[in-house]
Amino acid sequence: MSTTLGVSRPDQAAYMLRAAAGAGRGYKRELMNLLDVRPGQTALDVGCGPGTDLSALAERVGVSGTVIGVDRDSVMLTEARRRTKDLSAVEIREGDAHSLPVAPGSVDRAKIDRVLMHVAEPADVLAQLRLVTRPGARIGLVEPDWDTLTVDAEDLDTSRAFTRYTTSEVVRQATIGRSLARHAEQAGFTVETVIATTPVFLDFQDADHTLGLGRNMQQAIQDGHIDQERGHRWFTSLSEGTFFASFMLVSVICTR
Ligand SMILES: C[S@@+](CC[C@H](N)C(=O)[O-])C[C@H]1O[C@@H](n2cnc3c(N)ncnc32)[C@H](O)[C@@H]1O
Repeated sequence: MSTTLGVSRPDQAAYMLRAAAGAGRGYKRELMNLLDVRPGQTALDVGCGPGTDLSALAERVGVSGTVIGVDRDSVMLTEARRRTKDLSAVEIREGDAHSLPVAPGSVDRAKIDRVLMHVAEPADVLAQLRLVTRPGARIGLVEPDWDTLTVDAEDLDTSRAFTRYTTSEVVRQATIGRSLARHAEQAGFTVETVIATTPVFLDFQDADHTLGLGRNMQQAIQDGHIDQERGHRWFTSLSEGTFFASFMLVSVICTR
């Protein structure tokens, strides 16, 4: 088992698919049920990544419906296209969430899952979602709140410093999870359901990939936020014995 700090970025597409198959499975299933996608509808997945949810959406809209997956990353788009090449309902479009390549008023169901945390202007993205959806459309939003990241270690202060660093320096909209319902209301949607789930990581390697334990600790040391020796000791201790980490993920279902 490698305990080297600052491991290179994992293959992002593979890592997102792994996350969806592991800690992500439960909330994704619930989101899909609450979205209540019907045959013949047009469903939009903003920031579709490697196409994690496109086949589930395609199954629900059926042959008479349409699924549009939008992402700005060419590697993600290639993987999404590869994974959905046999699904006639699915269209993959390159584009930015701040300026969606989708006709106004054309979408019945939309989802945006762990994308708003990366964008420059969440309010503008929500305004775009409002623009492209029809009156009565259902929209599912899912975002983490990184202030709630807990990593078990004997050196609790360093775990807390790691969480603070993640929130203040690593993720652009790190606390958007708690504000999601407010943002949705401010964008003109009606909030129907708010759910908080807590993905749990019991496997160190999985958590290292998904939460960036090594790479973000390396960065925190380089930026002078955490002492080098302490950071290394903390990271090594995580790889030994029982591991636990978790964070809160907020899902909001709203209507237009
Ligand atoms: C954490 S991944 C989530 C992927 C997918 N929603 C899922 O649940 O597996 C975030 C995705 O959002 C995309 N993304 C981030 N900012 C974006 C933007 N401004 N416009 C479009 N896509 C964006 C990234 O390229 C990446 O594929």
